Order: sequence, then C-alpha cells, then structure tokens
Amino acid sequence: MPEVEWLAGSWLSPQPAPVRRLRMLRVFSMLVATGLLLACLTAYVLENYTVQPAFTEGSGGGHPRAEQPPYPGRAMDNIFWFLQVSDLHISRFIDPQRTPDFKKFCTETIDVIKPAIVFATGDLTDAKTKNRIGSVQHEVEWQTYQATLKQSRVLEKTKWIDIKGNHDAFNIPSLKSINNYYRKYSAHRQDGSFHYVHQTNFGNYSFICADATPSPGPKRPFNFFGFLNQNKMDELSKLASETVCSNQTIWLGHYTTSTIISASPGIQKVMSSAIAYLCGHLHTLGGLMPVLHSRNEQGTLELELADWMDNRKYRLLAFDHDLFSFVDLKFDKWPAVLITNPKSALYSSPRHEPLGKIKHSTHIRVLAFSPSQITSVLVSIDGIALGNAVHIEGPFFSIAWKAEDYSKGTHYIEVQVQDIAGRITVSGHSFAVEEIKLLPFDIMASFILLARHHIMARVLFILVFLANVIIIVAFRYRRKPQLKESSGVFTLTIFSFHVLCKTNIFYYPVLLFTCYVAVGPWFVGEVIDGQFGACFVFGIVVDGHFFEGSLSFIFGIFQLTLFNIPLMCYLCWCLLLRCRGACFRSHIKYTGWIRTVPMHIFIVVLFMWQVYSCYFLLITYGTAAFFLSPVRTWSVPLALVLVYKAWTLNNSSIRMFKAEMKNCTYS
Ligand SMILES: *[C@@H]1O[C@H](CO)[C@@H](O)[C@H](O)[C@H]1NC(C)=O
Repeated sequence: MPEVEWLAGSWLSPQPAPVRRLRMLRVFSMLVATGLLLACLTAYVLENYTVQPAFTEGSGGGHPRAEQPPYPGRAMDNIFWFLQVSDLHISRFIDPQRTPDFKKFCTETIDVIKPAIVFATGDLTDAKTKNRIGSVQHEVEWQTYQATLKQSRVLEKTKWIDIKGNHDAFNIPSLKSINNYYRKYSAHRQDGSFHYVHQTNFGNYSFICADATPSPGPKRPFNFFGFLNQNKMDELSKLASETVCSNQTIWLGHYTTSTIISASPGIQKVMSSAIAYLCGHLHTLGGLMPVLHSRNEQGTLELELADWMDNRKYRLLAFDHDLFSFVDLKFDKWPAVLITNPKSALYSSPRHEPLGKIKHSTHIRVLAFSPSQITSVLVSIDGIALGNAVHIEGPFFSIAWKAEDYSKGTHYIEVQVQDIAGRITVSGHSFAVEEIKLLPFDIMASFILLARHHIMARVLFILVFLANVIIIVAFRYRRKPQLKESSGVFTLTIFSFHVLCKTNIFYYPVLLFTCYVAVGPWFVGEVIDGQFGACFVFGIVVDGHFFEGSLSFIFGIFQLTLFNIPLMCYLCWCLLLRCRGACFRSHIKYTGWIRTVPMHIFIVVLFMWQVYSCYFLLITYGTAAFFLSPVRTWSVPLALVLVYKAWTLNNSSIRMFKAEMKNCTYS
C-alpha cells in the first residue's frame, strides 16, 4: 500500500503494525489539535468574560472627587432616583392585562416612587401579526400606549423618556413613513440618539439614549440586531464628549451591546465614561438568565432589565452623592427598597464613582417606598442589628454608623422594611468601605451581554460551511477504499460518501446547493411592505441599504446542520443500500426495522422542519419571498427529487459500485 489513506482506510482489516501505529498517531494528533483548539477557545472566553482585574484600591481609587465633601449624612440631600422599564410590548392580540397593569404602573407606582425621570427602553409596542410570527405596525397599539400616558397624566408627574426598540422599527420603509408611529405617539417623538441632562442644585447628570434601530426597518426576524454605522457612531462620540462636565453619565438603549453591530471605535468603547448602560431586548432569555448584569472591559456596567411584557419588572436607580445604586423590582410588590449608602460592592466602579465617600459617610441611607405608611426600616450588618433607620423625609431613611468599624474586608448589609399593611421586604448586599475589590460577574451573563455574537455566528457558519464543502469535494477526488469481507460500518460509511460524490447527478446538486446557501440570496421579496430586497446569509439588501448579517448566520448554521448535511447523509445511506441490491420496497429486509424506522422518522422530522421554515418565510416576508426562495422553498422539491433519484437511479456509476459490493460480504 503506497499511500496510507487514514481517513478512507478500513479500520477493522488487519494491517501491518507500522501502518497501524502511524494511523493511531494521526488520530491521536488530530484529537490533540482539536483539544488545543477547544482549550484556546475556552481560555479566550474566560479571559474576556470573567471580569476582571483583581486589583484592590485603597481609598476608593482614581475618582477625583472621592475624597471631597459632601459626604453621605443624615439628611436627604445630593440624592435623586429614577426608573427604567423595558419591553412593554403593548399588544392588541394577547395578554389583555398588560395595558391595565401598565396604566397602574403609570399611576400608582409613579405616584408612590415619584421618580425624577422614567426611561422606557424600547419595544413600546408588540407590532406582531395575529399569529405572532409576522410583523406590522398597528396604529391601535400605539394609540393605546399614548392613551395610557395621557390618561394617567404621567407626563405631568415626571420626565418620561421613551426610546425605540426593534419592534418599534419593524416593517418601516423610512423614518418619514406614516408607519413610523413612534414619531406620532411616543413621548419623545424624535428619531435618533440624544443627550438629556438632568440638572439639580448638586450637579448635572447626563443620560445618553443610543438609537441603534435600523432604518429602513426590515420585518422580523432579520431585525434582531441593532446597527450603528460610522455616522451614528460619530454622533454618539460627539454626545459622549458633551458629558465631560456632568457628575455622572448613564447610557441607555434597547439592545444589549452584544446585539449591536457598531462601527469604529465600537459601542462599548464610545460609552466608556458612563458608569452604566441600561438596556432590555433579551427578556432575560425568557427567564433562563434571571439576572443579566455585567461589566465591560471599560468598566461600564451593562444592566439588562427583564421585560414588562411577561415579567412586569421595572428598575429603581439612584445617585446618592454620585454613588450609583439600583434594584430590579417586581410591579405591585411593596415595599420597594434601595440601600444607597453603603452601595453594593459588586456594582462598584472605582473609575467612575467617588467610592471614597463611603468611608467618610456618617449614615447608612435607605430609600423605602410603599403606598401604605412605612412602619419600620430595620438595618443589620453581618447579622448584627443596628436598629431602626429614622424617617427623614419622603421615602428617605437614615441611621448613623461608624464606617471605620467595617474598613476591613467585605460585609453584608441587610434592611428589613415593613409597612402598615404588614408587607415586608428584605433587601441586602455586600459592601466594602476601604478595600474596594472588583468582583466578577456571572460568566454566562457576561458572555451573553458582551460577546460579539454576530462575529461568532459568522465564524461558526464559515467553519461549518467549509467543513461541508471540503468533505464533498474531498470524497470526489480521493481514492475509494478497497472493500473487504470484514469491512465495518466505518468503511461502509466512507464508501457511501464516495458513491455519492462520484455520482454526478448527486455531486453537483449537493455541492452547488451548499455553496448557494453561503453566496446566493436566500430569498427575494418584500423585506419591508412595498419594498423588495434580497436576503443573503451575510446580510440584507433593501432600498439601496445593506445591513450586515447577524442572525442570518445562525439561520445559515441551522440550514446546513439541520438540512443540507442530514440530506447528504441520508442520500449516502440510501445509495449504500442500493449498492447492496436493495430498492425502496425491499430495503427494510437489508437493514431491519430497528435501524430503518428511526432513520426515516429522523429525516422526515427534519424535512418537516424545512417545510415549516418555508411557511415561516411565507408568514414573515410574504408570498413573493416564499416563491422566490431557493434556499427554503426550492430546496424542498430539490430534496425530494434527489431522494427519489437515490432510490431509483440505475446508471453505470451505480451499477459499478453495486458490482464492487457484490464481491464482498458484510455485516
Ligand atoms: C458634582 O460635581 C460638582 C463639580 O465637579 C461638585 O462640586 C459637586 O459636589 C458634585 N456633586 C456631588 C453630589 O457630589
């Protein structure tokens, strides 16, 4: 044997010892290489998403005002608080309680908390069709939203800032379109990013709202990622530079930074002077990740808020002497409690906050809200009760403490708040007075919030695609293994790939179809109502705009792994049976029920999935897209024809392979 065909070789047949050893060596080195690759990947992920430098900073670190008065004391001063609510999804079709609850939020919750500002971070309306698959702007949903704001008079009670989410940009041909109801019915009414300054007599606080919604806005699902092109990034950089004189800066947006495709220098860099970025969009992954909080490389906290839609969550945030604190709350659950001094160690940021103020503070400070009167605010540290905090004014309570008693290490503060209705809330966190140590966030949360998913999806798609193409081409040009009497499953599998790839009628359709998934338009159709566009795996072209692919790569990975590759394997299996002399009617005799039935069920399920994908395409992008879709709709008859051919073809190529198999027996 002149050439060792380690891949195509027969494993079970006896081989001379050196050849076997060489083969083992190759397999072994391949395993090692794969292991190394995985190790590199793991190391990369760990390094990037386990935050962060384990440095300890005495006296609150770098911040210029860390050692400057005012310090937190007994009185309610240098403090204000505000709210965030996200993903309202006001819908005309489902959950009739959603809007009344939202109205109660605008009346009761706002009246009790009296926030300085309320931010609604996108997806104000649901904008889905009745079947919950398609997307269209419903004016009535927007009217409901506006009516709720008006009837509750919330706009008179507080500063209400609502920004757009991807649902608010579904199926909108241009910002000027009358379907852009955000312009007509929202409170803010202006498209684009903006900077809002909250002015107080103790300082200025900047809020930058970043609008990454695409314009024009394609229908769903290819409207999941946000886009910030160079113009928008330049604009954001300009807004960021306006905040240098503010005491603190917060950025807000609908999308997590991991679901924004941004131009240079990147969304996380441009907001580096902000203490936190508040967003929504992921709905805590339907409850899988109840807490999606992290901190990016720049030290900015990224805080995703669970949705209003199903979870009825909102967030209470405060700046107390420029120290940032927040708590995620459930609607209608009282009392609501936020400890503003000492603030949580986990959410501390030495670069952004004057943390040194904690050790100079004379009082523990707590905000406690309830529609009923608060009767007690019991404070304890490390399980030792300090006593009841004194009501100072409004929701503000404080109790004297000696910060220096806690200067070593971290401690746990807990506050138990009771109202006259007997409701109790216990709230607590770890804090540090001197040794402010950056604590790591959950690695999974960090990965979800901070990773660049569109890049990873792209890389993974390219790998799957290349692997697929290389296999097809390799089997075409490599030498076939010699079948022996003792040839096992492995050799037979290899043999079947040779049969497929060396038979033109299968080779060319399978290869071209796979290549088409990567380069050709998946469909051409109404990407937006009235506007034709083409959707490729690497992006969408519509009305002279190009939106880089993101989710489409994930669809591409699914297309290859759940359709193209299984189809190829199924064809191989059929062809192998054919070579053994079977036809469709008789093949069970050759393989037995046990193997045949699951195989057919498996392939039928995947086939039905592809058919469902065609239906999904019809519902989401319309009839034209359905008929003009090579990757979806056309693939269904293609698959049927190929399978039919595999069972019936009887040309010279098949006859040759058949003859070859006849010469040996097999298991
Ligand atoms: C806000 O910044 C100003 C100017 O830098 C400073 O004088 C003031 O004390 C700061 N406010 C608070 C609450 O620390």
